[in-house]
Amino acid sequence: MGMQDGVRANGGDGRIVASAPGKVILFGEHFVVYGSSAILCAIDRRVHVGAAKSDGIRITSEMGTLECESFSRDAADVDPVLRPLYHIAKEACRMAGRSEGITLDVESEIPPGAGLGSSSACCVAGAAAALRVLGRHPGHNEGAVMRMAAEAERTAFPNASGADTAASALGGMITYDRKSGWAAIRRQSGGPGFGLVVSDSGIRHNTESVVGMVSGFRDSHPEEFEELSRMESGLVSDVTKLLVSGAPPDDAAGTASALGRWASLNQSYLSRIGVSNAKLDEMIGEMDGFTHGSKITGAGGGGCAIAFTDPDGMAGAAANLASRGHDCFAAGIDYSGCTTS
Ligand code: MEV
Repeated sequence: MGMQDGVRANGGDGRIVASAPGKVILFGEHFVVYGSSAILCAIDRRVHVGAAKSDGIRITSEMGTLECESFSRDAADVDPVLRPLYHIAKEACRMAGRSEGITLDVESEIPPGAGLGSSSACCVAGAAAALRVLGRHPGHNEGAVMRMAAEAERTAFPNASGADTAASALGGMITYDRKSGWAAIRRQSGGPGFGLVVSDSGIRHNTESVVGMVSGFRDSHPEEFEELSRMESGLVSDVTKLLVSGAPPDDAAGTASALGRWASLNQSYLSRIGVSNAKLDEMIGEMDGFTHGSKITGAGGGGCAIAFTDPDGMAGAAANLASRGHDCFAAGIDYSGCTTS
């Protein structure tokens, strides 16, 4: 069975397929690593993981293949790209008391290293598929999948806040902070009140090294970083109130335009901590010209930026941006989170 037709077909042979959405961070990336709150939104691009019981361990994805006979290897000795899935396979088998192996096949609609949560979605779908195929189906919203996915992600990126795996597991819009965990943002009325366009700079980043760079900034500018974190927390709290109530802060402006202004403010904080660059600045400047405002999403240093539009304005804005040569798409919000079949 080829990867393309194989990953999503459960084939009735006990094979399980789970899928989980990517995400964008609307507000709060990087500061969330140090305890501030962030707002995330799952998007309609998915990673699918097929799981089946097998004699040995086999993991296949676009990023590489791993085959071994037993779990004798320590996860730390596995290529970081496949390490989280190896950890999931090993841990799920240990929990199920299974000494034979498991096969995990990955198919992704999300480019890696673009800030759209491909590795988190892979961990979430991988954990859900592995737990379910081994007879431990905790339900996709339950803590076990999220916990295993966050733990797996930390085998490759120890300082991960856990925000990305939570958004992918749950779907919809959430707030997240390291101490209290996640809370769903449920609007009191209507749809989200905004549209989203995602544009890819084409520059690939390594989240861990960008987070390491920010840590360097924090060490060399402790007071400034603290002040920026305080401002970011205030911004996230104001945005959360707006998203929950659906009422713009001043009645003259709509939700989307308020979010756009906050995005531009958030972008100025991200620039200050050093995660923007000339290409992202140029793309963001262009997007600002015909949307309500834009910012980096995710780690930065490359990857994607998002722009806020009116709810019915995203297709037009994406077409406009594409006509200027940008690799972009209008992103829908995914409300299903992780699913299994
Ligand atoms: C990466 O998508 C988001 C960061 O805040 C890191 C994290 O939260 O783990 C940069």
